[in-house]
Amino acid sequence: MVKGRLVSVEGPDGAGKTSVLEALLPKLKEQLGEEGVLVTREPGGIAISEKIREIILDVNHTSMDAKTELLLYIAARRQHMVEKILPALEKGQLVLLDRFIDSSVAYQGYGRGLDIAEIGWLNDYATDGYQPDKTLYFDVPSEIGLARIQESGQREVNRLDLETLELHQRVRQGYQALAQQHTDRIVVIDANQDLSQVVAEAESQLKQLLQDLS
Ligand code: TYD
Repeated sequence: MVKGRLVSVEGPDGAGKTSVLEALLPKLKEQLGEEGVLVTREPGGIAISEKIREIILDVNHTSMDAKTELLLYIAARRQHMVEKILPALEKGQLVLLDRFIDSSVAYQGYGRGLDIAEIGWLNDYATDGYQPDKTLYFDVPSEIGLARIQESGQREVNRLDLETLELHQRVRQGYQALAQQHTDRIVVIDANQDLSQVVAEAESQLKQLLQDLS
């Protein structure tokens, strides 16, 4: 029986997910204890999936077919789920997951034009149908997101960052469509404001879930 809670964190590139998670983590640990929270990311999170990540994001792999890309994300997701996420949920931890199933729909579906229903099926295949308890979607205009990445220089530029502005705009539209379809789990947070405000909103969105866990 799963006792923990799974929160996925989504958004276009440059939405600031990583900075929000860094700021949020100490606050969550204060409430749930050091062992109460696990932060992990997709693609990656464990050795096998980090290796798959290197293949996907390698800037030299410009010839990668869209379906190959999707299948690699799905493979990384499956292993991560089995090896790290489900055991953490069984232990009762709050799992904060930097990207999950919605990234595949937004990027490979809306961005690359692959069939949304097929992606849904593959997501279910990888996760055995497991859905996040909540999804924090950080919304930011694509131009601003991409400019943040270029300005900050904090993170390495990857193959997805080299894509056109149009692809990133389609990704954002995809996320917005998903948010409208899944109002039960996806909350939209305006990420085009001060980091402290974004963090405060994210924290307040997790309040109920934290109460259930503590
Ligand atoms: P990353 O450097 O982690 O970007 P970010 O900090 O914005 O999360 O790179 C992950 C990239 O992989 C990002 O561009 C989104 C993309 N991605 C997909 O296209 N499909 C997926 O299923 C996942 C999980 C990520």
